Amino acid sequence: MYKPVNLSTDIYYVGVNDRKTSLFENMWPLDKGVSYNSYVIADEKVAIIDTVEAGQFEKWLAKVRAILNGRNVDYLVVNHMEPDHSGAIRILTELYPEMEIIGNKKTIPMIEGYYGITENCKLVKEGDSIELGNNKLSFYQVPMVHWPESMVCFEENNQILFSSDAFGSFGTLDGGIFDDELDFDSYIDEMRRYYSNIVGKYGNPVQKALQKLGGLNIKMIAPSHGPIYRENIERMIKMYDQWSKYEGEEGVVIAYASMYGNTEEMAEVTARAIAEEGIKNIKVYDVSKTHPSYIISDIFKYKGLILGSPTYSNELHPNMESLALKIQHMGISNHYYGVLGSFTWAGAAAKKLNVVAETLKWEVVAEAVEEKHALKADKYEACRELGKAMAEKLKA
Ligand code: FEO
Repeated sequence: MYKPVNLSTDIYYVGVNDRKTSLFENMWPLDKGVSYNSYVIADEKVAIIDTVEAGQFEKWLAKVRAILNGRNVDYLVVNHMEPDHSGAIRILTELYPEMEIIGNKKTIPMIEGYYGITENCKLVKEGDSIELGNNKLSFYQVPMVHWPESMVCFEENNQILFSSDAFGSFGTLDGGIFDDELDFDSYIDEMRRYYSNIVGKYGNPVQKALQKLGGLNIKMIAPSHGPIYRENIERMIKMYDQWSKYEGEEGVVIAYASMYGNTEEMAEVTARAIAEEGIKNIKVYDVSKTHPSYIISDIFKYKGLILGSPTYSNELHPNMESLALKIQHMGISNHYYGVLGSFTWAGAAAKKLNVVAETLKWEVVAEAVEEKHALKADKYEACRELGKAMAEKLKA
């Protein structure tokens, strides 16, 4: 039994929710789960757009079969090879041996590499299309959104963009599947956490993809994770544009590591000084308590960042070192920056945290504040000055 979910007359949603997996890519917490979206076009020809993670195969296949009602599958479109979408390819080829697998020149070798499949692969390039009857799918390459082979397809007659990872979100679809069936705003934090941590490194490729797809008259965006958009299309595109340009809002993230509370106190004093200057969006995080994916999501949201760490065996506190490296690897640009640190016998943390700004060419709002032992009056005041300088920049 399955009541189909239609995007249009011949196009169906056959995605599944995953509330069991704890970590996406075995890294990113899935507190609200995730959906693996897949679509069936049952026209004169039958096409499936992407599959699901292997463990979700049974649930997914039941939906697909309910739609197909005994028909064969003509095409499997592989927009993206990451196994959360390609995990059911091999078993699907065994069930439908005549099915052609559609991918680009980077997809096809990956299909062989991951699944040993070399037959019935149909190569498509930029602008190619396939006719299914009433529906016609055209293909556009969007390399590095999220992998080199990533592509999207556009159904011309219903003007639906099957956007793969682009415009995806963490969070299961709890009844509502389309954005006008659910509380869109309640998904925004998980959209941004998904974007920033999974695709965020690739701001330039996202910009290129937005420009390329900007010429299409899109009535619906059907991504591979999260809600399908038919009401908030412009809003989604605008958010993606801002995130991929690293255009943060007025606000600041203060992320610190602290063993015995001294660096934490510096963070508190700095946060208070920022608030006194009228900045309301101040997010203070202990990196040993909050998973970095949430901190990084807010770093994408806000223009200001202050990192604080004690010196630990002449290095950064390991949890701050991990966050600082992640930020550098992601190549986040366009931020105002400040540094806090404390030490007991030799200070090294501030110098190491300064490297983040050098690497990413961020504007440093004030000299790093580094205290020996507990916080005392002059460094207390220096923290306040750092906070004021950050607030001034944010308000400018
Ligand atoms: Fe949802 Fe890059 O896979």
